[in-house]
Amino acid sequence: MQLLYNKVAIITGGASGIGKATCQLFAEQGAKVIIADVNEEAGHVIEQQIVDDGREATFVKTDVSSSEQVENLFSEVQKRYGKLDILCNNAGIGMEKLFHNVDEEDWERIHNVNLKSVYLCSRLAIPIMLENGGGSIVNVSSVNAESPRKFYSIYASSKGGVSALTKGMAIDYAEENIRVNAVLPGCIYTEQTKKSIENSPNPQQTKDLIYNMQPLKRPGKPEEVAKLIIFLASDHASFITGSCIPVDGGMLARSVISQD
Ligand SMILES: NC(=O)c1ccc[n+]([C@@H]2O[C@H](COP(=O)([O-])OP(=O)(O)OC[C@H]3O[C@@H](n4cnc5c(N)ncnc54)[C@H](O)[C@@H]3O)[C@@H](O)[C@H]2O)c1
Repeated sequence: MQLLYNKVAIITGGASGIGKATCQLFAEQGAKVIIADVNEEAGHVIEQQIVDDGREATFVKTDVSSSEQVENLFSEVQKRYGKLDILCNNAGIGMEKLFHNVDEEDWERIHNVNLKSVYLCSRLAIPIMLENGGGSIVNVSSVNAESPRKFYSIYASSKGGVSALTKGMAIDYAEENIRVNAVLPGCIYTEQTKKSIENSPNPQQTKDLIYNMQPLKRPGKPEEVAKLIIFLASDHASFITGSCIPVDGGMLARSVISQD
């Protein structure tokens, strides 16, 4: 039996990395997937791959930080399916800067894409879920929400907001059968991680550093995050709400005095 048979699911940032793996796994598990992303070209590629595999996917070009575009996304989904079972708020961008070098434009961009988007999408998802008798929201936060790396303060602020919003929304809608959870990825090996290793002055040193950040001695794979997202989205997680769960190869569990 497929875990998400006949479920309608929106995945933001579904054109690449963790979101792409989530779209593929959701479709394999029977979901009708709506890919919402700013990247039109990559979004259509993944849509076509899923359709070619005999499964259901629709790409809707969406900047999740724009309330107009998010409204358009939800009206497309309503028109096409008339319901929504799952929302995965995954779209996000990173930034590495020393705190006092962050200007207002950086602050707004990071918080609008990473945090405001969760508000904009969830506030339209919830009324549809209420009408359907329930649903599941999975937000993609980060280990930085718990333990920020150097130069990651603003990113950590946006993801800390995502984790807090997850808990608050879970409490608000627990009695209405809407579960809200978050995953906290650690270092995940995406195209960006690959590029940052290749483009660094000493690729081998950077690779060793990235691998040794985890007690498991390797970065995670996008599919390993997607598997936690699918579990939380499914009825297998029926007693889990308001949880922020790391998927980090043990990174958050390690204390500074036991680095190996
Ligand atoms: N990769 C990691 O190591 C890691 C670790 C912790 C958390 N995360 C989080 O996981 C999520 C996915 O990251 P990823 O590594 O797969 O990144 P990625 O860059 O591969 O994918 C992000 C996707 O979001 C899309 N996107 C960016 N801005 C958008 C916007 N305004 N509207 C709609 N779509 C937009 C991009 O086009 C892209 O397809 C992000 O929220 C990120 O912060 C990633």
